[in-house]
Amino acid sequence: MRLLLLLHLSLSIAVHLRGTLETEPVKLVHVLSMGREASCWVMDLLKNTSHASIFEPLGGLVEGSQIPRHSQSSTDAALQCLYDCHNCTGSEVRKDSLEELQQFCQDADDSESSLPYLVVKTTRIVDHAAISRALPQSYVDSSRFIVLLRDPRGVWASTKPYTSWAIHHIDLVCQLLALQALSLPDLAAVAGNRVLLGVYENWTEDTVSFAQDAARLLGVDADSFADFAKASQRPSEELMPPSWVNTLEASEIEEIETNANCQSYMARVGYTTKSWKSALKSPSELFGPLSEPEKLRLAELRSLQAALTQTLTDQATELPEPWKLEFQRSRANRVPSAS
Ligand SMILES: *[C@@H]1O[C@H](CO)[C@@H](O)[C@H](O)[C@H]1NC(C)=O
Ligand SMILES: *[C@@H]1O[C@H](CO)[C@@H](O)[C@H](O)[C@H]1NC(C)=O
Ligand SMILES: *[C@@H]1O[C@H](CO)[C@@H](O)[C@H](O)[C@H]1NC(C)=O
Repeated sequence: MRLLLLLHLSLSIAVHLRGTLETEPVKLVHVLSMGREASCWVMDLLKNTSHASIFEPLGGLVEGSQIPRHSQSSTDAALQCLYDCHNCTGSEVRKDSLEELQQFCQDADDSESSLPYLVVKTTRIVDHAAISRALPQSYVDSSRFIVLLRDPRGVWASTKPYTSWAIHHIDLVCQLLALQALSLPDLAAVAGNRVLLGVYENWTEDTVSFAQDAARLLGVDADSFADFAKASQRPSEELMPPSWVNTLEASEIEEIETNANCQSYMARVGYTTKSWKSALKSPSELFGPLSEPEKLRLAELRSLQAALTQTLTDQATELPEPWKLEFQRSRANRVPSAS
């Protein structure tokens, strides 16, 4: 009886909280992408020509196979800096991003009222569990999230020309995409209806309706972004069949479709093999619980990171240069909590 009463009480508090939170102004909108998913376009849409924005603040700092292995403490420190620029100490993000954040902080401190939302686009934060781990819930509540996903064959076709890029490996692209999709339930758990999924094959067909979804997410007039969106609508004969059908070698398609991480990603999001047609899942399926094999895969991907952290602690003195830097950073980040 007492338990029931408690349950009832906490439910009504939750309902009450939800009601008040939705009216809070949105402070930040975070576009989470792994790259080559039209994230620049989405960022421009949200910027609406005037909003302050931070573009790929970790690009250059975290590259190649470091991305899925980026230590938890470094990711957390970067997020804490991005979501509250008073908390940046200097090495969490790129120098130009830091300067832009400092400017934003100053404007916010000088202003009597709250500033229009800040747009942040990252391509290096792929495990969404970082959001709940690093950020206080109040920051999550005043933010909105747009997660971009795309057919891995399309992502690779778009990455392929950039041979000097550190993500120029099918294997790595598959790891990053799988981490993104399999950690969506972790984002939904803390951010719930503050997340919009932008699945490339869906929204490119109707950019205006995507722009309206984004406007609703931000609680602004539904047609706020419509002109920009309308101007960039591509005709469907340009979109289907997707360009990768003609630009990828059969061997590349085969490599992607037989890669275990890409297989898991494709099954989860609804991309079919041996065809360019998709059977895309609904947002609620993508936010829904993982199957046992998916849980194992996610744990395996996360263990890449744990393995790195362990090696760093064990052999701190004989590390290759880039790892040493990583180690010093994560040590530096631990100092405040240890004291
Ligand atoms: C920034 O630091 C303040 C003071 O320590 C803390 O209350 C706040 O939660 C931090 N912000 C983030 C995003 O972690
Ligand atoms: C977007 O820009 C238009 C035109 O300047 C403006 O009327 C509208 O309020 C802006 N909306 C947002 C959410 O920035
Ligand atoms: C993508 O589009 C299909 C077909 O309209 C729809 O059933 C599905 O829910 C959409 N998925 C997402 C994540 O938007």
